[in-house]
Amino acid sequence: MFKKIANHQPVMLEEVLNVVPPNGELMIDFTLGMGGHSEAILRENKGYRLIGFDRDSEAISMASQRLIDFKERILIKQAKFNQACDYLKKEKITASFILVDLGISSWQLDQAERGFAFSQQGPLDMRMDNTSGLSASDYVNQATYESLRQILREYGQEPFAARIAKGIVNERLEKKISTTTELADIVNKYKPKKRKKKGGRRHNQATLTFQAIRIHINDEINQLKILLNSLESITAPDSVVAVLGFHSLEDRLVKRRFAYLAKSCVCDKSLPVCRCRGISLVEMITKKCIKADEVEIESNPRSRSARLRVVKFK
Ligand SMILES: C[S@@+](CC[C@H](N)C(=O)[O-])C[C@H]1O[C@@H](n2cnc3c(N)ncnc32)[C@H](O)[C@@H]1O
Repeated sequence: MFKKIANHQPVMLEEVLNVVPPNGELMIDFTLGMGGHSEAILRENKGYRLIGFDRDSEAISMASQRLIDFKERILIKQAKFNQACDYLKKEKITASFILVDLGISSWQLDQAERGFAFSQQGPLDMRMDNTSGLSASDYVNQATYESLRQILREYGQEPFAARIAKGIVNERLEKKISTTTELADIVNKYKPKKRKKKGGRRHNQATLTFQAIRIHINDEINQLKILLNSLESITAPDSVVAVLGFHSLEDRLVKRRFAYLAKSCVCDKSLPVCRCRGISLVEMITKKCIKADEVEIESNPRSRSARLRVVKFK
Protein backbone atom coordinates (compact mmCIF):
# COMPACT_ATOMS: atom_id res chain seq x y z
CA MET A 1 0.00 0.00 0.00
CA PHE A 2 2.76 2.44 0.98
CA LYS A 3 4.82 1.79 -2.16
CA LYS A 4 1.77 2.81 -4.17
CA ILE A 5 1.26 5.97 -2.10
CA ALA A 6 4.95 6.86 -2.44
CA ASN A 7 4.72 6.46 -6.25
CA HIS A 8 1.50 8.44 -6.49
CA GLN A 9 1.89 11.61 -8.56
CA PRO A 10 -0.76 14.25 -7.83
CA VAL A 11 -2.02 15.71 -11.10
CA MET A 12 -0.74 19.21 -12.04
CA LEU A 13 0.85 19.63 -8.63
CA GLU A 14 3.09 22.57 -9.60
CA GLU A 15 0.16 24.44 -11.12
CA VAL A 16 -1.92 23.85 -7.97
CA LEU A 17 0.90 24.91 -5.63
CA ASN A 18 1.30 28.13 -7.63
CA VAL A 19 -2.24 29.30 -6.86
CA VAL A 20 -2.32 28.63 -3.09
CA PRO A 21 -2.62 32.07 -1.39
CA PRO A 22 0.67 32.36 0.56
CA ASN A 23 -0.78 33.99 3.67
CA GLY A 24 -3.87 31.83 4.09
CA GLU A 25 -4.78 29.87 7.20
CA LEU A 26 -7.11 27.05 6.26
CA MET A 27 -7.34 24.85 3.21
CA ILE A 28 -10.15 22.45 2.44
CA ASP A 29 -9.42 19.44 0.27
CA PHE A 30 -12.76 17.95 -0.76
CA THR A 31 -11.09 15.01 -2.53
CA LEU A 32 -8.24 13.87 -0.31
CA GLY A 33 -7.61 10.62 -2.21
CA MET A 34 -4.11 9.52 -1.28
CA GLY A 35 -3.40 12.95 0.21
CA GLY A 36 -0.80 13.84 -2.44
CA HIS A 37 -1.86 17.43 -3.11
CA SER A 38 -2.59 18.11 0.55
CA GLU A 39 0.78 16.81 1.70
CA ALA A 40 2.67 19.06 -0.72
CA ILE A 41 0.56 22.11 0.20
CA LEU A 42 1.01 21.56 3.94
CA ARG A 43 4.75 21.06 3.47
CA GLU A 44 5.18 24.26 1.46
CA ASN A 45 2.73 26.42 3.42
CA LYS A 46 3.59 26.17 7.09
CA GLY A 47 0.84 28.58 8.14
CA TYR A 48 -1.95 26.37 6.78
CA ARG A 49 -4.26 23.93 8.55
CA LEU A 50 -6.22 21.38 6.55
CA ILE A 51 -9.74 20.01 6.65
CA GLY A 52 -9.80 17.03 4.30
CA PHE A 53 -12.77 15.01 3.06
CA ASP A 54 -13.29 11.93 0.94
CA ARG A 55 -16.29 9.63 0.60
CA ASP A 56 -14.05 6.55 0.36
CA SER A 57 -13.01 5.03 3.72
CA GLU A 58 -9.86 3.49 2.20
CA ALA A 59 -8.79 6.91 0.92
CA ILE A 60 -9.42 8.34 4.38
CA SER A 61 -7.13 5.80 6.03
CA MET A 62 -4.39 6.14 3.39
CA ALA A 63 -4.44 9.94 3.52
CA SER A 64 -4.46 9.87 7.35
CA GLN A 65 -1.33 7.71 7.33
CA ARG A 66 0.37 9.82 4.71
CA LEU A 67 -0.35 13.05 6.58
CA ILE A 68 0.62 11.72 10.02
CA ASP A 69 3.54 14.22 10.28
CA PHE A 70 1.02 17.05 10.15
CA LYS A 71 -1.42 15.61 12.68
CA GLU A 72 -1.49 18.81 14.74
CA ARG A 73 -2.67 20.77 11.69
CA ILE A 74 -5.27 18.50 10.13
CA LEU A 75 -8.84 17.30 10.51
CA ILE A 76 -9.93 14.42 8.25
CA LYS A 77 -13.51 13.27 7.80
CA GLN A 78 -15.24 10.73 5.60
CA ALA A 79 -17.93 12.68 3.77
CA LYS A 80 -19.25 13.26 0.29
CA PHE A 81 -19.52 16.78 -1.10
CA ASN A 82 -23.04 17.50 0.15
CA GLN A 83 -22.23 16.25 3.66
CA ALA A 84 -18.93 18.15 3.75
CA CYS A 85 -20.64 21.40 2.65
CA ASP A 86 -23.39 20.95 5.25
CA TYR A 87 -20.76 20.44 7.94
CA LEU A 88 -18.75 23.53 6.92
CA LYS A 89 -21.85 25.73 6.75
CA LYS A 90 -23.16 24.48 10.09
CA GLU A 91 -19.79 25.16 11.75
CA LYS A 92 -19.47 28.50 9.87
CA ILE A 93 -16.05 27.48 8.56
CA THR A 94 -14.55 29.45 5.66
CA ALA A 95 -11.33 28.57 3.86
CA SER A 96 -8.47 30.47 2.24
CA PHE A 97 -7.87 27.72 -0.29
CA ILE A 98 -10.21 25.04 -1.64
CA LEU A 99 -9.08 22.13 -3.79
CA VAL A 100 -11.34 19.75 -5.69
CA ASP A 101 -9.59 17.02 -7.73
CA LEU A 102 -12.52 15.20 -9.30
CA GLY A 103 -13.11 11.60 -10.31
CA ILE A 104 -11.39 8.52 -8.96
CA SER A 105 -7.78 8.04 -7.92
CA SER A 106 -5.28 5.76 -9.59
CA TRP A 107 -5.40 3.70 -6.38
CA GLN A 108 -9.15 3.09 -6.71
CA LEU A 109 -8.73 2.25 -10.40
CA ASP A 110 -5.92 -0.23 -9.77
CA GLN A 111 -7.78 -2.25 -7.11
CA ALA A 112 -9.54 -4.98 -9.12
CA GLU A 113 -11.93 -5.65 -6.22
CA ARG A 114 -13.29 -2.09 -6.42
CA GLY A 115 -14.62 -2.85 -9.89
CA PHE A 116 -13.70 0.42 -11.66
CA ALA A 117 -11.44 -1.06 -14.35
CA PHE A 118 -12.59 -2.95 -17.44
CA SER A 119 -9.09 -4.33 -17.91
CA GLN A 120 -8.97 -6.35 -14.68
CA GLN A 121 -11.49 -8.93 -13.58
CA GLY A 122 -13.28 -7.90 -10.40
CA PRO A 123 -16.77 -7.60 -8.95
CA LEU A 124 -18.77 -4.96 -10.86
CA ASP A 125 -18.93 -2.48 -7.98
CA MET A 126 -17.61 1.04 -8.86
CA ARG A 127 -18.89 2.68 -5.65
CA MET A 128 -16.46 5.25 -4.24
CA ASP A 129 -18.01 4.52 -0.85
CA ASN A 130 -18.45 0.78 -1.12
CA THR A 131 -20.54 0.56 2.04
CA SER A 132 -23.62 2.31 0.70
CA GLY A 133 -25.78 2.75 -2.37
CA LEU A 134 -26.36 0.63 -5.47
CA SER A 135 -23.34 -1.08 -7.02
CA ALA A 136 -22.76 -0.98 -10.78
CA SER A 137 -23.86 -4.63 -10.90
CA ASP A 138 -27.16 -3.78 -9.11
CA TYR A 139 -27.70 -1.01 -11.63
CA VAL A 140 -26.92 -2.87 -14.87
CA ASN A 141 -29.00 -5.88 -13.79
CA GLN A 142 -32.04 -3.85 -12.70
CA ALA A 143 -32.16 -0.74 -14.89
CA THR A 144 -34.63 -0.39 -17.75
CA TYR A 145 -33.38 -0.27 -21.32
CA GLU A 146 -34.35 3.43 -21.42
CA SER A 147 -32.39 4.31 -18.29
CA LEU A 148 -29.30 2.46 -19.55
CA ARG A 149 -29.50 4.14 -22.96
CA GLN A 150 -29.93 7.58 -21.45
CA ILE A 151 -27.12 7.19 -18.90
CA LEU A 152 -24.69 5.88 -21.53
CA ARG A 153 -25.56 8.74 -23.83
CA GLU A 154 -25.63 11.52 -21.24
CA TYR A 155 -22.73 10.58 -18.97
CA GLY A 156 -20.60 8.60 -21.42
CA GLN A 157 -21.45 10.48 -24.62
CA GLU A 158 -21.39 6.97 -26.06
CA PRO A 159 -22.49 7.07 -29.72
CA PHE A 160 -23.64 3.42 -29.53
CA ALA A 161 -25.63 3.87 -26.31
CA ALA A 162 -28.76 2.21 -27.71
CA ARG A 163 -26.95 -0.88 -29.00
CA ILE A 164 -25.02 -1.37 -25.78
CA ALA A 165 -28.15 -0.85 -23.63
CA LYS A 166 -29.95 -3.44 -25.73
CA GLY A 167 -26.98 -5.81 -25.40
CA ILE A 168 -27.00 -5.47 -21.60
CA VAL A 169 -30.74 -6.16 -21.43
CA ASN A 170 -30.39 -9.23 -23.73
CA GLU A 171 -27.39 -10.72 -22.01
CA ARG A 172 -28.69 -10.37 -18.46
CA LEU A 173 -31.67 -12.55 -19.42
CA GLU A 174 -29.15 -15.38 -19.85
CA LYS A 175 -26.88 -14.61 -16.92
CA LYS A 176 -26.54 -11.95 -14.23
CA ILE A 177 -23.75 -9.47 -15.06
CA SER A 178 -21.49 -9.67 -12.03
CA THR A 179 -17.95 -8.79 -13.07
CA THR A 180 -16.11 -5.97 -14.81
CA THR A 181 -14.92 -8.24 -17.62
CA GLU A 182 -18.44 -9.59 -18.24
CA LEU A 183 -19.67 -6.03 -18.80
CA ALA A 184 -16.63 -5.15 -20.95
CA ASP A 185 -17.23 -8.30 -23.06
CA ILE A 186 -20.86 -7.31 -23.65
CA VAL A 187 -19.79 -3.84 -24.80
CA ASN A 188 -17.23 -5.40 -27.14
CA LYS A 189 -19.82 -7.80 -28.52
CA TYR A 190 -22.47 -5.15 -29.28
CA LYS A 191 -20.39 -2.12 -30.21
CA PRO A 192 -19.08 -1.94 -33.77
CA LYS A 193 -15.29 -2.24 -33.93
CA LYS A 194 -13.69 1.17 -34.15
CA ARG A 195 -11.06 1.98 -36.74
CA LYS A 196 -8.06 3.67 -35.18
CA LYS A 197 -7.64 7.28 -36.31
CA LYS A 198 -4.32 7.98 -37.97
CA GLY A 199 -1.84 8.87 -35.25
CA GLY A 200 -4.63 8.72 -32.63
CA ARG A 201 -4.79 6.69 -29.43
CA ARG A 202 -7.09 3.71 -29.29
CA HIS A 203 -9.48 3.83 -26.33
CA ASN A 204 -10.82 0.57 -25.00
CA GLN A 205 -14.31 -0.03 -26.42
CA ALA A 206 -15.73 -0.05 -22.87
CA THR A 207 -14.19 3.25 -21.67
CA LEU A 208 -17.30 5.38 -22.18
CA THR A 209 -19.69 2.76 -20.76
CA PHE A 210 -17.64 2.39 -17.58
CA GLN A 211 -17.33 6.18 -17.21
CA ALA A 212 -21.10 6.63 -17.62
CA ILE A 213 -22.08 3.95 -15.11
CA ARG A 214 -19.53 5.17 -12.57
CA ILE A 215 -20.79 8.77 -12.85
CA HIS A 216 -24.38 7.60 -12.48
CA ILE A 217 -24.07 5.27 -9.50
CA ASN A 218 -21.90 7.75 -7.59
CA ASP A 219 -24.24 10.64 -8.44
CA GLU A 220 -21.14 12.59 -9.47
CA ILE A 221 -22.86 15.38 -11.39
CA ASN A 222 -25.28 16.28 -8.61
CA GLN A 223 -22.50 16.11 -6.06
CA LEU A 224 -20.42 18.57 -8.09
CA LYS A 225 -23.38 20.94 -8.56
CA ILE A 226 -23.99 21.01 -4.79
CA LEU A 227 -20.36 21.79 -4.11
CA LEU A 228 -20.14 24.53 -6.77
CA ASN A 229 -23.33 26.14 -5.46
CA SER A 230 -21.95 26.15 -1.90
CA LEU A 231 -18.66 27.91 -2.63
CA GLU A 232 -19.89 31.40 -1.70
CA SER A 233 -20.75 30.20 1.82
CA ILE A 234 -17.47 28.46 2.57
CA THR A 235 -14.87 30.88 1.22
CA ALA A 236 -13.15 33.71 3.11
CA PRO A 237 -12.32 37.04 1.37
CA ASP A 238 -9.37 36.64 -1.05
CA SER A 239 -9.71 32.87 -1.00
CA VAL A 240 -8.83 30.77 -4.03
CA VAL A 241 -10.76 27.79 -5.39
CA ALA A 242 -9.02 25.33 -7.74
CA VAL A 243 -10.93 22.55 -9.50
CA LEU A 244 -9.39 19.76 -11.57
CA GLY A 245 -11.88 18.05 -13.91
CA PHE A 246 -11.25 15.05 -16.13
CA HIS A 247 -14.12 14.99 -18.61
CA SER A 248 -16.13 17.59 -20.46
CA LEU A 249 -19.30 17.16 -18.39
CA GLU A 250 -17.67 18.17 -15.13
CA ASP A 251 -15.40 20.77 -16.75
CA ARG A 252 -18.42 22.44 -18.37
CA LEU A 253 -20.20 22.71 -15.01
CA VAL A 254 -17.15 24.28 -13.38
CA LYS A 255 -16.61 26.68 -16.28
CA ARG A 256 -20.25 27.84 -16.21
CA ARG A 257 -20.41 28.27 -12.45
CA PHE A 258 -17.17 30.25 -12.38
CA ALA A 259 -18.36 32.42 -15.29
CA TYR A 260 -21.63 33.04 -13.42
CA LEU A 261 -19.81 34.07 -10.24
CA ALA A 262 -17.53 36.39 -12.26
CA LYS A 263 -20.45 38.13 -13.96
CA SER A 264 -21.03 41.64 -12.66
CA CYS A 265 -24.80 41.17 -12.29
CA VAL A 266 -26.10 37.75 -11.34
CA CYS A 267 -29.78 38.69 -10.89
CA ASP A 268 -32.50 36.70 -12.59
CA LYS A 269 -33.21 38.35 -15.94
CA SER A 270 -36.92 38.57 -15.05
CA LEU A 271 -36.24 41.00 -12.16
CA PRO A 272 -37.01 44.63 -13.12
CA VAL A 273 -33.97 45.96 -11.21
CA CYS A 274 -30.61 44.60 -10.19
CA ARG A 275 -30.71 43.26 -6.61
CA CYS A 276 -27.13 41.95 -6.39
CA ARG A 277 -25.64 45.44 -6.68
CA GLY A 278 -23.80 44.29 -9.80
CA ILE A 279 -20.73 43.10 -7.97
CA SER A 280 -18.95 40.10 -9.40
CA LEU A 281 -18.00 37.68 -6.66
CA VAL A 282 -14.83 36.26 -8.15
CA GLU A 283 -11.89 37.14 -10.31
CA MET A 284 -10.93 34.53 -12.89
CA ILE A 285 -7.36 33.42 -12.28
CA THR A 286 -7.45 31.07 -15.25
CA LYS A 287 -9.18 32.76 -18.19
CA LYS A 288 -9.02 29.43 -20.03
CA CYS A 289 -8.48 26.09 -18.37
CA ILE A 290 -4.88 25.00 -17.82
CA LYS A 291 -3.76 21.60 -19.10
CA ALA A 292 -0.89 19.39 -18.03
CA ASP A 293 2.32 19.82 -20.01
CA GLU A 294 3.84 17.14 -22.23
CA VAL A 295 6.44 16.15 -19.63
CA GLU A 296 3.74 15.40 -17.06
CA ILE A 297 1.53 13.61 -19.58
CA GLU A 298 4.50 11.43 -20.53
CA SER A 299 5.14 10.37 -16.92
CA ASN A 300 1.50 10.32 -15.79
CA PRO A 301 -0.92 9.55 -18.66
CA ARG A 302 -3.95 10.20 -16.41
CA SER A 303 -3.06 13.91 -16.49
CA ARG A 304 -3.77 14.00 -20.25
CA SER A 305 -7.43 14.82 -19.75
CA ALA A 306 -6.99 17.11 -16.70
CA ARG A 307 -8.44 20.64 -16.88
CA LEU A 308 -7.59 23.06 -14.09
CA ARG A 309 -9.81 26.09 -13.44
CA VAL A 310 -9.11 28.62 -10.70
CA VAL A 311 -11.00 31.62 -9.29
CA LYS A 312 -10.29 34.07 -6.50
CA PHE A 313 -13.17 35.26 -4.32
CA LYS A 314 -13.24 39.00 -3.67
C1 LIG B 1 -8.51 12.07 -8.14
S1 LIG B 1 -8.71 11.51 -6.51
C2 LIG B 1 -7.89 12.71 -5.53
C3 LIG B 1 -6.42 12.53 -5.44
C4 LIG B 1 -5.74 13.49 -4.49
N1 LIG B 1 -5.83 14.85 -4.93
C5 LIG B 1 -4.31 13.10 -4.24
O1 LIG B 1 -3.41 13.88 -4.56
O2 LIG B 1 -4.07 12.00 -3.74
C6 LIG B 1 -10.38 11.86 -6.19
C7 LIG B 1 -10.87 11.44 -4.83
O3 LIG B 1 -12.10 12.13 -4.63
C8 LIG B 1 -13.03 11.30 -4.01
N2 LIG B 1 -14.34 11.80 -4.39
C9 LIG B 1 -14.87 11.88 -5.63
N3 LIG B 1 -16.12 12.39 -5.59
C10 LIG B 1 -16.38 12.66 -4.29
C11 LIG B 1 -17.51 13.21 -3.61
N4 LIG B 1 -18.63 13.56 -4.25
N5 LIG B 1 -17.43 13.37 -2.27
C12 LIG B 1 -16.28 13.04 -1.61
N6 LIG B 1 -15.20 12.47 -2.20
C13 LIG B 1 -15.25 12.30 -3.53
C14 LIG B 1 -12.70 9.91 -4.53
O4 LIG B 1 -13.12 8.92 -3.62
C15 LIG B 1 -11.18 9.97 -4.69
O5 LIG B 1 -10.54 9.45 -3.56
